[in-house]
Amino acid sequence: MDQAEKLRRLVNDKTAQKKNKFRVITVTSGKGGVGKSSFVVNLALALKLRGLKVAILDADIGMANVDIMYGVKSKYSLFDLVFNNKNINEIIEMTQEGIKIIPGGSGLKDIVDLNEEQRVRLIKEFEKLDDIDILIVDTGAGVSKTILNFVAISDEVIVITTPEPTALTDAYSLIKIIKNKFQDANINVVINKVRNIKEARETFEKLSNTVNVFLKSKINYRGFLFEDKKVPISIIEQRPYLISFPKTEASMCIMKIASDVIGIEKENKNNTIKDVFFKLFGRMGLGS
Ligand SMILES: Nc1ncnc2c1ncn2[C@@H]1O[C@H](COP(=O)(O)OP(=O)(O)OP(=O)(O)O)[C@@H](O)[C@H]1O
Ligand SMILES: [Mg+2]
Repeated sequence: MDQAEKLRRLVNDKTAQKKNKFRVITVTSGKGGVGKSSFVVNLALALKLRGLKVAILDADIGMANVDIMYGVKSKYSLFDLVFNNKNINEIIEMTQEGIKIIPGGSGLKDIVDLNEEQRVRLIKEFEKLDDIDILIVDTGAGVSKTILNFVAISDEVIVITTPEPTALTDAYSLIKIIKNKFQDANINVVINKVRNIKEARETFEKLSNTVNVFLKSKINYRGFLFEDKKVPISIIEQRPYLISFPKTEASMCIMKIASDVIGIEKENKNNTIKDVFFKLFGRMGLGS
């Protein structure tokens, strides 16, 4: 059996075919520092509290910091899985709350050039992780090929912006690039650091109208987060605010968003996390 045949069998085997509600959400933004990582860390917890098994892929190649926000420190990344013979359980960090963190590291860039044997090993390692309901991908700001590859395999993209005009303009530019490449991309917007609900709604309407008029396309409102002093405190303390300050405004907002995310029942693009990595890095992948 050649390597390509092995890959096909890996994806088509029975475990991959069983009915699964596995879902992938990619969180991204046009402008940096608008609150993606703190959103991802707390959304993961909120979904976990609602009974889902959650993993986070830290795909911010330059400044991966999801682990730090949970107060853990990753030793290895996908790079070590592929090039240093580490297995998946060695590279994953499990947080105190039971969230799995997969550090992408620089490996995400190099993985596109893998040979067949390395691809098979990578996909086989991910097969060990079939008990995940939802994978949340935290990305860096702006557009990159890595981000677009994740958008392609995601069931839902969440674009975070603040009401600031600069953040909003950058969010629009990002949405334009995504929609030009993937017309059907399911784009949802979260407005972060708002002072009141009206500001959130108006900010979304502004963005949505621009997308309607200039791109002849649609985006969805996924909710908002209040500007909340407990958020920076929780980052300094390296404890998610949903744990340290469960009653703070940001926590209420994140619980509401998690409920809405769970409430959407849709056909998902992937059966398991293995399918995701097969599409990203296997023969069917989009390449670099
Ligand atoms: N709702 C909020 N209220 C107050 N401060 C917030 C809120 N959300 C995020 N912040 C603050 O904004 C800063 C940036 O947050 P974070 O690191 O999550 O952004 P990011 O988009 O992931 O940044 P990067 O683009 O560098 O990855 C942090 O100091 C955080 O405390
Ligand atoms: Mg970040």
